[in-house]
Amino acid sequence: MDFFEVLRGRRSCRRFGDRPVSGKDIETCLEAARLAPSGSNAQPWRFLVARKPKLRLALAEAGYRQECLGEAPVIVVLLGDRELYRKRVRRVKELVDIGALSPEAWSALEKRYRDKAGPAGEEDAAIRANCMLAGEHYVLAAAALELGCCWVGAFDAAKVSEILGLDAKYNFPVALLPTGHPLEEPQPPRPRYSISDIAWKEEAGRPWEAGTA
Ligand SMILES: Cc1cc2nc3c(=O)[nH]c(=O)nc-3n(C[C@H](O)[C@H](O)[C@H](O)COP(=O)(O)O)c2cc1C
Repeated sequence: MDFFEVLRGRRSCRRFGDRPVSGKDIETCLEAARLAPSGSNAQPWRFLVARKPKLRLALAEAGYRQECLGEAPVIVVLLGDRELYRKRVRRVKELVDIGALSPEAWSALEKRYRDKAGPAGEEDAAIRANCMLAGEHYVLAAAALELGCCWVGAFDAAKVSEILGLDAKYNFPVALLPTGHPLEEPQPPRPRYSISDIAWKEEAGRPWEAGTA
């Protein structure tokens, strides 16, 4: 499927059939997620694939019994990983070693890493932002495979951590991604702002005009 076809056709899917999702399709979506960009190439994400009914049921409970969680044959739990994030200096050095980042850019960055203590919570916010990119790669790959998927951000994080036995020192849940074969008819596009509503030209508040050369 053409990339823009995938973008235009994707919808949050909340109704799923029982048909199982193959391991191969799950892996294709995870492969797409793995390729996402991340700050410092830190890749501070993990994906827990839940297919066993008992585990999915528990996750659906933690997600306030949202319909999409109850029906999906797979729930992928997108997790932030502080341990991987802390290895990001190594990841940046790798970029220098392979020539993707210049040694000059690295020395500027190195100083920033050294100087930056950062307020509490900043690190988790950065991890979350990176995870969202990987999650959207996953979602778009699912759409390209004509699988249904829905971002679920409304869940009890403490409960999900407990269900999965996460070590809170290292991992925290960012989102649930119920995945399956859609039971819904193709849905009309959801409302979106127009480009001129959201894009500014050269200065804040001056709308981008359609057809600008
Ligand atoms: C970060 C995030 C969290 C979301 N959480 C939920 C959720 O908890 N439950 C739900 O039904 N949809 C959730 N959604 C889906 C949005 O409602 C949906 O993306 C939006 O209405 C636009 O519709 P579309 O995805 O079909 O284009 C979430 C989406 C994002 C990006």
